[in-house]
Amino acid sequence: MKQRIAIVGFGTVGQGIAEILLNKTAYLNEKYGYDYQVVAIADFAYGNAFNPDGLDLPLMLEEAKAKRKFSKDVTAMDTLTLIRECNADVMCELTYTDLSTGGPAIDHVKAALDSRKSVVTSNKGPAALKYREFAELAESNGVKFLIEGTVCAGTPVINLSEGPLAGCEISKIRGILNGTTNYMLSEMEKGMSYDDVLKVAQEKGYAEADPTGDVEGYDARGKVTILANIVMGVKMDINEVSCKGITKITPADIEEAKSKNSRWKLIGCVEKRDGKVVGSVAPEMVSLSHPLAGVMGATNALTFTTDMLGDVTIVGPGAGRMETGFSILTDLLHIFRTGK
Ligand code: HSE
Repeated sequence: MKQRIAIVGFGTVGQGIAEILLNKTAYLNEKYGYDYQVVAIADFAYGNAFNPDGLDLPLMLEEAKAKRKFSKDVTAMDTLTLIRECNADVMCELTYTDLSTGGPAIDHVKAALDSRKSVVTSNKGPAALKYREFAELAESNGVKFLIEGTVCAGTPVINLSEGPLAGCEISKIRGILNGTTNYMLSEMEKGMSYDDVLKVAQEKGYAEADPTGDVEGYDARGKVTILANIVMGVKMDINEVSCKGITKITPADIEEAKSKNSRWKLIGCVEKRDGKVVGSVAPEMVSLSHPLAGVMGATNALTFTTDMLGDVTIVGPGAGRMETGFSILTDLLHIFRTGK
């Protein structure tokens, strides 16, 4: 049976997953018997479209890339009504992240779960602010709330901790959790200015819609909160995580690090300390001999400290259109292969 998909938010990640689905249709079908239909797309810039028998995805992708409004299967339904009323099995919530209120994404996720649709998202707002509530709602409605893409894009961090590392007690997770700032610090070391490199990070699709979230450390703080709640299993509020970004790092600081055989990294950490779980985000001068020092560009790296295996480190893409789009595919396939 075809998996029917609604995509809410057709920007960087929405277009990324659409491209992946179109490019990999034959491979996914041959390898996993996976087949899909995108029945609804909602985007505040391009409009809302619905066709219960499947939208013309290539045309919609072309229109969105050209920044034109959708021209086919346009519906008068507003986004929340569309989410509730459409015949999708899964809603992909891919609107911009708002870590203060959760933004419209919170209502989108609730509408989908209430109408017994699974939700797949890379949006950190609902995951960092309301993970437990949504996981419980999904469970009681017999659907899924999957968020692999909220931490380290498509690099399988949540699945690693819930799958292969299940049975290990994890006492600490520490590493590089924001692709934009790691890219910026890498390029600033080569001499590029802060403003120029931030612009490139935005063009490459690494940065948040509002890049303040990246450079002030708020994005990494959201991810630390998600890891605390899901992997460590504690109820941690985002405001409990101390947070300092990279805005105060000057070319002189970068030179100073170089003179000490070190480089700056924005480090996120969540750890069990004296019976409590503590979260933090802050720039650190890391010695060049340390494994994290070699992680450059938009790459992320996380080390899990475990009771059974010692340290387990995963390194991979942390941001980007296809890299985050892939996380959505992972969760869609998971739902397809395991049932609702
Ligand atoms: N802006 C985020 C980053 C995107 O740079 O890591 C992925 O969450």
